Amino acid sequence: MNNSCLPVGLFDSGMGGLTVLKAINACLPAENVTYLGDTARLPYGTKGKDTIVRYTVQAVGKLVDMGVKMLVIACNTATSAALPSLRKNFAPLPVLGVVEPGALAAARASRTGQIVVIATEATITSGVYHQAILRIRPDAQVLGRACTLFVPLAEEGWMKGLVVEETARRYLKDVFSPAVSTPGPDTLLLGCTHFPPLLPALRRIVGNSVQIVDSAATTAQCVRDALVAYGILREGGEGTCRFLTTDNQGRFAQKGSLFLGRPLKPSEVELVDL
Ligand code: DGL
Repeated sequence: MNNSCLPVGLFDSGMGGLTVLKAINACLPAENVTYLGDTARLPYGTKGKDTIVRYTVQAVGKLVDMGVKMLVIACNTATSAALPSLRKNFAPLPVLGVVEPGALAAARASRTGQIVVIATEATITSGVYHQAILRIRPDAQVLGRACTLFVPLAEEGWMKGLVVEETARRYLKDVFSPAVSTPGPDTLLLGCTHFPPLLPALRRIVGNSVQIVDSAATTAQCVRDALVAYGILREGGEGTCRFLTTDNQGRFAQKGSLFLGRPLKPSEVELVDL
């Protein structure tokens, strides 16, 4: 079989990476994709770096064993902790994370260079977004905020309503309040793949003048560029998606459809043991 027919392997700690899968499907409809969500061990974002690296390398190894032509780490937390280890362990497979594409999207979107990144505790503590944005845009002023509770809220399917808005207000009021700084940040980067479904609730808190960006569309474009560069782009035909989870296929299908934006049947989801 020609390598281009092999699937692209996507990994996330849970269902958030399905927001990236949705963008990849839209940008690259011919690609076969295998998605693995490590729902049994979610959340990764509150764990220490060594644990995140260990879990990520182990889970991604499962995708590699199944046969993939490229790896996309559709999890900011795993990207920020484990990208170098993944590239070393699984060379020569191309491994793309979501942090560089996210940083690029934010740097392009911001007029003033004042960018707020919201992400998990582990991603914010790692400082990867600060570094990545400053590499692209040295004049930027980057402020990071860990928004830990957004992950369980999104996994629970609570994407909007008073609880989400009040949680967002508590996390962000000191950053986006007009009294705090004038003119204030003009861009909010969703540095966690679980956050895009919360966008309407976040919009109500930060107002209409702030650009809200995430890494999904830019990541899909970067995947395309990498597939072309490696000569493994699949052209023609309709791609298929295979869904793997480490726990509770029924829940993955039910809640995952909210991230994916289309129905997902439990029979489409396979249980894997790491
Ligand atoms: N989806 C993951 C990310 O993009 C975070 C979820 C978790 O804490 O495991 O960082």
